[in-house]
Amino acid sequence: MEFQQVIKERYSCRKFADRPIEEERLNAILEAGRLAPTAKNLQGQRIYVVRSPEGLAKIDSLTVCRFGAPVVLVVAHDKNELFVYPGGKYDSGVEDAVIVATHMMLAAKDQGIDSCWLNLLDPDVVAQELGLPESEQVVMFLDLGYAAEDAKPAHKHFSRKELAETVKYL
Ligand SMILES: Cc1cc2nc3c(=O)[nH]c(=O)nc-3n(C[C@H](O)[C@H](O)[C@H](O)COP(=O)(O)O)c2cc1C
Repeated sequence: MEFQQVIKERYSCRKFADRPIEEERLNAILEAGRLAPTAKNLQGQRIYVVRSPEGLAKIDSLTVCRFGAPVVLVVAHDKNELFVYPGGKYDSGVEDAVIVATHMMLAAKDQGIDSCWLNLLDPDVVAQELGLPESEQVVMFLDLGYAAEDAKPAHKHFSRKELAETVKYL
C-alpha cells in the first residue's frame, strides 16, 4: 500500500471478523516493529503475541477492548534496557515501546490488517496475570485482525484539530 494511503486509511477498528491472520502477514507486522528506532538502539521492547483461545480469554479478563480481535500484541519494555535522559528524571522506556508499536500498527494496515491501540488496562495487573518478568513494564495492547464487514471508524476518527492548534513555529 502507498504510505499516504496507510496513514489515511488506518482507523481504530472496534469490530473484528472471525478470521485468523496469516503467518506471513503477522511476521511482516512484527518485523516492522523490529526495525523501529529506539534510544541508543537498546531495543528494550518486548512483544507478546497472544492468539491462543486461553490467551485471548485472559486478555478479555484484562480489558473490555479486544473487540473480537484474533491476535493481541502485548507491548512492554524491559526496565534494564532503556536510556535515562541527562538529569535523571526521564527515560526512553515507554517511548521506545510506543514507536515499535506505531511501526507495527502502520505495518498492519499495509498488510490489510486493522488494529486498535488500547490502554484501557492496568499494566501491573496485566504483567502479573501474564507472568511477565519483574523487569518488564507493560505499555499497551494492540488488537490486530481483519475488520468485520460492517466495521467502521468511530465519529472521533474524523475529528482532528487544525495544524495551527498543535504546531507552533518558534
Ligand atoms: C494511547 C492511546 C490509547 C488508546 N486507548 C484506547 C482504548 O483503550 N480503547 C479504545 O477503544 N481505543 C483506544 N484508543 C484509540 C483512540 O480512541 C483513537 O485512536 C482516537 O479516538 C482517534 O481515532 P482513530 O484511531 O480511529 O483515528 C487509544 C489510542 C491511543 C493513541
